[in-house]
Amino acid sequence: MGTPVQLCITFVLLALSLADEVQLKHDTASKPVRLFTDEDLKRHDGREEGLPIYMAIKGVVFDVTKGKDFYGKDGPYNALVGKDCTRAVAKMSLEPADLTSDTTGLTEEQLQSLESVYEGTYKTKYPIVGYTTMRLLNQDGSPNKDFKPEDQPHFNIRDEF
Ligand code: HEM
Repeated sequence: MGTPVQLCITFVLLALSLADEVQLKHDTASKPVRLFTDEDLKRHDGREEGLPIYMAIKGVVFDVTKGKDFYGKDGPYNALVGKDCTRAVAKMSLEPADLTSDTTGLTEEQLQSLESVYEGTYKTKYPIVGYTTMRLLNQDGSPNKDFKPEDQPHFNIRDEF
């Protein structure tokens, strides 16, 4: 039998290790992710004062509000927000036909450019707030079992739930 002090220390250590476990579970796979429909995203196109500005690339939704000078309603890149504009970013184009998630027929060079802007600009500069249906669901609407949230350790992902 330990002394009351030893018992106390054991109890505190046990409580701390359990707390750690609970914390870890919450930080990893169990955290919910937000699913955006096209309509949800459209509301965040910079036109409605006070609403955050969202833009998706490869089905990943970024909060680009802090780049308001680029993306706000009078900004040069406002056409890119409120939607998934993967193709436009890959081609560095603002043509209406390119404002889509469709990557059909992109060249190797355009796909590489997309990766570098996605990793080097968006993932480092803007927090991820969710994913579009294209990323979370299969074509038939069933859940995509291979889905994994993107790693973005330098941001605290906002937990809206
Ligand atoms: C004459 C043509 C263009 C010029 C002079 C130009 C200039 C610039 C400059 C100076 C920046 C960096 C701003 C900064 O980090 O402070 C920038 C960023 C960017 N540009 Fe352009 N650009 C042009 C055309 C385009 C086009 C056609 C697209 C189409 C997608 C585009 C997409 C972007 C994006 C996505 C960024 C990153 C914005 C951010 O950091 O959030 N640019 N551009």
